[in-house]
Formats: sequence, structure tokens, C-alpha cells
Amino acid sequence: MRFEIEKPEDSTEIEVLLDNAFGLGRTNLSSYQLRIGNQPIEELSMVAKEENGSIVGSIRFWPVRVGQNEFKVLLLGPIAVHHTHQGEGIGSYLISAGVSKARELDWEAILLVGDEPYYSKFGFSVIKTVEFPPPTDPNRILCLELTEGTRELLKGRVRIPSAKDC
Ligand SMILES: CC(C)(COP(=O)(O)OP(=O)(O)OC[C@H]1O[C@@H](n2cnc3c(N)ncnc32)[C@H](O)[C@@H]1OP(=O)(O)O)[C@@H](O)C(=O)NCCC(=O)NCCS
Repeated sequence: MRFEIEKPEDSTEIEVLLDNAFGLGRTNLSSYQLRIGNQPIEELSMVAKEENGSIVGSIRFWPVRVGQNEFKVLLLGPIAVHHTHQGEGIGSYLISAGVSKARELDWEAILLVGDEPYYSKFGFSVIKTVEFPPPTDPNRILCLELTEGTRELLKGRVRIPSAKDC
């Protein structure tokens, strides 16, 4: 298995992987409202490839802002691993590598919508002060702060950064 930064030519195969993992209605999920019209961060978008080049894992991170806060926050997702390779540590590698790189690049916190029992091992926990576009189960909104003290100041609605935020 090798891990690399996603290339433009990987996108078709990634879409198939995501359709298989989440179903064809996945773009109706509320978190997609923060992706459509937004651009993933190139350096943090990674794929896992088999030796023959087939993509079996993918992760993306998107820039977001919370309320009127200036903090540089990332939205993690989607992450998917092909069902034939689940449980081999690929998802954990993609998340850990993304978190380390995000820290190096001075991002201040990461948000996601997901299962706390899986993401808690990477340090994510439920954050009640942040709102995602409805309908999002508040118990699945998770946060990992990358710079100390950011988490307690994150309050409000998650939104796509505007030109004045950049
Ligand atoms: C979630 C996912 C990315 C994990 O990738 P992976 O490569 O299989 O994960 P790892 O091998 O690093 O970790 C596997 C462990 O996580 C556990 N796990 C996987 N999904 C879990 C979940 N939703 N909740 C709790 N634990 C979970 C597995 O049971 C396994 O536990 P074990 O190590 O004790 O056996 C992968 O299962 C997947 O693509 N699922 C479908 C898409 C999806 O649900 N994406 C996440 C959306 S929030």
C-alpha cells in the first residue's frame, strides 16, 4: 500500500469509492453543503493506493470558518476505505497523517460529522457550541483542537470562508 497526495486524475475513481461507501444519495448529506462551492486543501487530500495503482482509500479536508471567529478550521471528510481493505489501519493512517500535516500547516482545529467511538482514538470529541447545516445530529459533531484554547472559543454556525476570510 502506498499513500500519496490526491491527483486530478484520481477524482473519478475516488467518486466511485465514495458512492460505494456512502451510497448514491451521499451528496444530499448536510455536510456536502460545506463542500459544494468550496475547494479541498490540496496538501491534505490523500489517497491510499494498492501496488497496481487502484485507489482503496481517500480522505479530504476543507477550509471552513465558525460563526464570526477568525480561526483557521478544517472540515474532515469524506473518508472512505474500500470494504475489502477495511480494518487494515488505512483509515487510521489517513486520519493521523492528515492531522499531523494540518498541524504543520498551522490549521487551528478540525471538525467532522461522524461516530465518536471511531474518532475519539485520534482525540476528537463532541462539541456542542458549533452548528452544522441541518439536519445534523449534534451528537455527531466532533472537534479536535490543534492549537491550545481554540476549541472553547469555537461558537456558531460552520460556514464556507468568504473572500474576506482569506
Ligand atoms: C470508517 C472507515 C473509514 C475506517 O477505515 P478503516 O481503514 O477500516 O479503519 P482502521 O483499519 O484504521 O480501523 C478499524 C477499526 O475501527 C473500527 N471502526 C470502524 N468504523 C467504526 C465506527 N463507525 N465506529 C466505531 N468503530 C469503528 C473497526 O471496528 C476497527 O476496530 P478494531 O481495530 O478494534 O478491529 C471505513 O470503515 C469506511 O470507509 N467506512 C465506510 C464509510 C464511512 O463510514 N466513513 C466515515 C464516515 S464518518
